[in-house]
Amino acid sequence: MKAKKTAIIGGTGLTQLPELDVISEQAVETPLGMTSGLLTEGKWHGNEVIFLARHGHPHSVPPHKINYRANLLALQQCGVDAIIAVNAVGGITEAMVSGHIAVPHQVIDYTWGRESTYFDGEFMPLDHVDLTFPYDEVLRQKLLSEATAAGFLVSGAGVYGATQGPRLETIAEISRMERDGCDLVGMTGMPEAALARELGIPYASICLVVNPAAGKAEGEITMEQIRAVLNGGMEQVKGLLSHFLMAE
Ligand code: HPA
Repeated sequence: MKAKKTAIIGGTGLTQLPELDVISEQAVETPLGMTSGLLTEGKWHGNEVIFLARHGHPHSVPPHKINYRANLLALQQCGVDAIIAVNAVGGITEAMVSGHIAVPHQVIDYTWGRESTYFDGEFMPLDHVDLTFPYDEVLRQKLLSEATAAGFLVSGAGVYGATQGPRLETIAEISRMERDGCDLVGMTGMPEAALARELGIPYASICLVVNPAAGKAEGEITMEQIRAVLNGGMEQVKGLLSHFLMAE
């Protein structure tokens, strides 16, 4: 049987994966341009893993300028069987406190002006993929069962609202998103999930809440507040990834 190859797309706070036993690092050029950074291929618990830092390393590409199409196309070219995305997010609903981890089940896309499809009539002929369930349910359930087995407290559902950024939101925007049913707010969940579906690659996301969304706590949101949660939180996320790969 062919060995599985899992891609991990790291977001803010996860621009490197020192746990990888690195085999190669390569810059990949696709017909749609360059990826955000080098693709690092290696082994983790004996599994083939490819790591890509979504914002580059060092963290420099803003959410609206990420070449999501090139990133996912490159991962497909490398033959990955699954993609686990890691996203730092703001928490909207009560359970989504700082430091909490969620594996979302739905998404609402508030972004605009991003290259968000391969089926644009240029790169590929027009087509319409189904996105009823934007995340791969098998992958989500695997992540959740490993989280439970390893004793991590993880929300097994949540609606991810993808905003344009790089600015954070206003209180009124977050109130609207809450009325829409969003639990989490982030800037990079889309079009990534939709592009993975267009390529037919199973995709799921691990979201780490790094701040209460605008208006959900006293005062303004500061980068200091976010950084204070990121380091420890991403160690937790890596712990979950590690258990997931061990069980693969
Ligand atoms: N809003 C949007 N994206 C984010 C946030 C937020 O509050 N926190 C981390 N990413």
